[in-house]
Amino acid sequence: MDQIAKAVELLNKNDIVGMPTETVYGLAARIDSEVALKKIFSIKQRPFFDPLIVHVDSISQAKSCVDEWPMIADELAQKFWPGPLTLILPKSKRISDLITSGLSNVGVRSPNHPVALELIQKVGCPLAAPSANKFGKTSPTKAQHVKDEFGSDVFVLEGDSSHYGIESTVLLIAKTKDSFDLTILRKGSLLQSEINQHLLSTSISFRWVDSVDKKSSPGQLKHHYMPNVPLVICRNPHRKLSEVSVMVDEKLKELPDTVEGVQIIKPKRKIQKIEFLKLSDDPTQAARELYSQLRSVSQRDPDILCFIQLPHHQGELWESIFDRLYKAASLVLD
Ligand code: TXA
Ligand code: MG
Repeated sequence: MDQIAKAVELLNKNDIVGMPTETVYGLAARIDSEVALKKIFSIKQRPFFDPLIVHVDSISQAKSCVDEWPMIADELAQKFWPGPLTLILPKSKRISDLITSGLSNVGVRSPNHPVALELIQKVGCPLAAPSANKFGKTSPTKAQHVKDEFGSDVFVLEGDSSHYGIESTVLLIAKTKDSFDLTILRKGSLLQSEINQHLLSTSISFRWVDSVDKKSSPGQLKHHYMPNVPLVICRNPHRKLSEVSVMVDEKLKELPDTVEGVQIIKPKRKIQKIEFLKLSDDPTQAARELYSQLRSVSQRDPDILCFIQLPHHQGELWESIFDRLYKAASLVLD
């Protein structure tokens, strides 16, 4: 039996499947299988307040998941789907509270990956899929990462390394009397400037709104994406390594064990071995290798992992990368 046929069979039997996408690997379940949806939360140890993104193969399938499909959603989907853009819109009855954490909105996106699209098409039902990592931990960008995380408990569809390497951009669309309020809830590989530029070329009226109440944006926690070794971000590139070790040893005592339910990773002993997270100067490449590097450098088992923030780390895509790095860090040193 081919791999996709096997995945379809598992999904149709209320099981979950690891699935490649162009952003990161996902852990997929049929949206109508309560058993499989619950399995996602339990295997990830994910709290129920963190909603799941629904993956669709087409705009028409997206329409079946939402209460209303506004013109602006159609414009954005026509332009950027399949691709790394999740649209948050009022949900239809088809979408359960388990998927949306009881919110009236649902996140939908069409992934730009042939395996993911074929899987959704063959199952004939949208798939809810969070990133395929344990809650609070580093996201996976290779099939092997998913296998390392869940072992033989999860069947993983093989695919290439994720093209973008960081998660989709999450965009909240709120209808107002004669316009739309747009808010980026999670920065991703599709940039706000690209969305803005496209919408300006249409006749749609919209405005950007920076902050929304915390209730509309659950799952945006202070810590996330954490590797197994404490990550320390050094904002002062001139600081000596010996100084860093002393400061980390000292500050360690002040760190809480958990923040918002996410375990804060601490060094196991006095710091002796430091490894560096070195990312490409090109942000596209840096995003692509970020999670993979966080995993592989951690495997060398240093006491801490250090990332030095440099002046050229500027620009929109670096902001998306730093959103992940700061959440993954146990400590930030000035
Ligand atoms: O690129 C991606 O989006 C990947 C791939 C697998 O598609 N998926 C992903 O899912 O990153 P996950 O579960 O790791 O992150 C989903 C986040 C939630 O934590 C939340 O911040 C936001 O998307 N989200 C989902 N549904 C939402 C909703 N109804 N309202 C507000 N935010 C929502
Ligand atoms: Mg995730």
